[in-house]
Amino acid sequence: MDRSVLIPLDEKRETITDFYFDKWDRDMDETRRELYTELHKIYGLIRKGVIRVPDTGYILELGVNRCVSFNELCDIFDVKRCVGFDLENVTRHPRVVTVDIRNMDDVLYPAALCVNEVGGWTVTPESRKAAYDWMISNMLPGGVVIEHSNEYSGWEIKEDLQAKGFKVVWMGPIHIVMKKL
Ligand SMILES: C[S@@+](CC[C@H](N)C(=O)[O-])C[C@H]1O[C@@H](n2cnc3c(N)ncnc32)[C@H](O)[C@@H]1O
Repeated sequence: MDRSVLIPLDEKRETITDFYFDKWDRDMDETRRELYTELHKIYGLIRKGVIRVPDTGYILELGVNRCVSFNELCDIFDVKRCVGFDLENVTRHPRVVTVDIRNMDDVLYPAALCVNEVGGWTVTPESRKAAYDWMISNMLPGGVVIEHSNEYSGWEIKEDLQAKGFKVVWMGPIHIVMKKL
């Protein structure tokens, strides 16, 4: 799928949910497969302890959609540590908070792991950036963030995170994993 032809959907909450809970489900099979495969690989490294996540702090996924990858986190970690966020909770997951991530400025969840899966840097740039800023401000020392790579996001995210005190622990074509020093 050519993501460059997509018009940003941030303006209306309904445009975002129509896309992610309808069109995205039907049209983006190939992209979704690649995303899930790589994320699953990273979660495998976390499960084995190759990527080390601190023993205290929340395990967060921003943008859970139908909880495919979030359920994997709930399986790896104590579920009481796990919290997911999205505009909708269509699977009625008990650990998912229904919220627009752009309204989370005053909410604190000190995090050991945070996966930013909110929309996309091209599709919903405003929401994705709000999630990114919120994520950075919630990370505990030693905490791990999972974001899209420079190539996939289209901007120098690695350098930005390095400037904000993170170091690279894993890189793939789609995702980058960085630890807060
Ligand atoms: C790529 S999907 C996430 C995929 C998911 N991690 C999975 O395992 O299937 C992106 C999600 O971000 C959510 N999202 C987009 N903008 C948002 C916003 N402003 N606040 C909260 N969630 C948002 C969408 O509703 C969508 O479910």
